[in-house]
Amino acid sequence: MSVRFSVEEFAKLKKILPIYEWGLRTLLTKLNIIHEDLKDFRDNHSIEYIRSRMKAPESIAQKLYDMGLDVTADNAKTHLKDIAGLRIICPFARDIYFLSDLLKSMPDVNILEEKDYVSNPKASGYRSYHLILELPVFFSNKTEHIAVEIQIRTEAMNFWATLEHKARYKYREHVPKHLSDELIVIAEQIAALDNRMFTIHEIISLINQDVQEI
Ligand code: GTP
Ligand code: MG
Repeated sequence: MSVRFSVEEFAKLKKILPIYEWGLRTLLTKLNIIHEDLKDFRDNHSIEYIRSRMKAPESIAQKLYDMGLDVTADNAKTHLKDIAGLRIICPFARDIYFLSDLLKSMPDVNILEEKDYVSNPKASGYRSYHLILELPVFFSNKTEHIAVEIQIRTEAMNFWATLEHKARYKYREHVPKHLSDELIVIAEQIAALDNRMFTIHEIISLINQDVQEI
């Protein structure tokens, strides 16, 4: 049976979720400006695209339950840092580090947590760079600091993570060993593919330079 908020707690949750939504929108605006600036003025295509999502109330309830906490709006606010989430997809692994440095240098932004699963992949094979940051959002009567989780990954890493997530969901976290082993192998092949694609990209960039120089 799925875990749920009580009617009273759900009413409280509905009052706090918009605050996260506004935090997410604020950060998204900042990132869209960076995206356009890089693309249009610096010929830098480190950002392919950005996706954002709010965690669904059922997922919030389930996560609190899994953490052994009461399913309350207060606990969600205190203990969850991924109610607002954002994903940046880049062409190459190197772009991930360029972007994480850029995000960390943003004024007004506090880094709460940083996990480099690109250099240190998870046992599952999962690769991505995670940042949890906190940014101020100004309201008519107060300032709130909102946590947002950011995942930065290449298109290939995203392809893998989406499929592996689907497998976990279908098998309710008990993915058969032959499939999880296969996913680990594919994750390594994808990382190698990312590197080979990057090498070609570097070669092409050099050719372009020559053309411009003629
Ligand atoms: P959470 O309870 O999920 O927040 O775990 P955590 O606090 O240890 O955070 P972590 O940074 O490991 O993971 C946060 C998010 O990254 C997850 O909610 C997923 O979206 C993604 N993620 C982490 N590990 C995996 C994985 O093995 N496979 C896939 N597909 N996604 C993962
Ligand atoms: Mg987390």
